[in-house]
Amino acid sequence: MKRIVVLTGAGISAESGLKTFRDSNGLWEGYNIEDVATPQAWQRNPELVQEFYNMRRKDVLEAQPNLAHYALAKLEERFDVTIITQNIDDLHERAGSTNVVHLHGIITKSQSSVNPELTYPIKGWELGMGEVCELGSPLRAHVVWFGEDVPMIEEAARICAGAELFILSGTSLAVYPAAGLIHYVRTGVKKYIVDPNIPAVSRLTNVVEIQAKATDGIPELVEELMSNKY
Ligand code: APR
Repeated sequence: MKRIVVLTGAGISAESGLKTFRDSNGLWEGYNIEDVATPQAWQRNPELVQEFYNMRRKDVLEAQPNLAHYALAKLEERFDVTIITQNIDDLHERAGSTNVVHLHGIITKSQSSVNPELTYPIKGWELGMGEVCELGSPLRAHVVWFGEDVPMIEEAARICAGAELFILSGTSLAVYPAAGLIHYVRTGVKKYIVDPNIPAVSRLTNVVEIQAKATDGIPELVEELMSNKY
């Protein structure tokens, strides 16, 4: 099967009712990153950080996958698909995608404050301040905060280097190292970008821009790929 690699961002979940970060009325308009998404914020005011991610977890649990998530899952019928997502929601998995790499963690899990490899599933949306890991340290959301390592980045780069077709959707490519992954895709490989505001991508070859919302552009692209003789 042909290897398709898909890199997604917040935009692919926008039509499921989950805010993006940098669009108008995006999350970072309502919150300071320094107050809710850094290790320093956790040191300074863990209650505020925990509340922020509890609210986001509640939104994620109430959200449903959309046509774009389902179309990418359908692609697995004919292709070897790996989805590399910057999203901390589980909508790709809930739509049926079986090979999803979460670069920035997943909000349905908690992690130890002292050892990020110790992770635990969370029941419901609320993670209490008193909950601790097996080492006795407070549990926090299993998400990668600004300034923290991105443990899956090397694996993701290796996957991108092996892509035979590449799809990028719903990311402004504003955050590194995730945004650098597009440059691991080989020059001869076709690269589709699906976004209502196509992000600036310098030095990228073989690009097909689909200026559309994910729920329009992705199902159309998937239909085209499924009907072609690959
Ligand atoms: N369909 C497709 N794309 C959309 C849609 C839609 N309906 N609505 C918005 N977009 C696009 C925007 O045009 C933009 O390119 O989604 C992108 C959203 O960009 P950001 O808000 O910057 O989100 P993302 O790129 O995922 O952010 C990267 O930054 O804040 C951190 O850790 C966080 O993973 C996140 C990272």
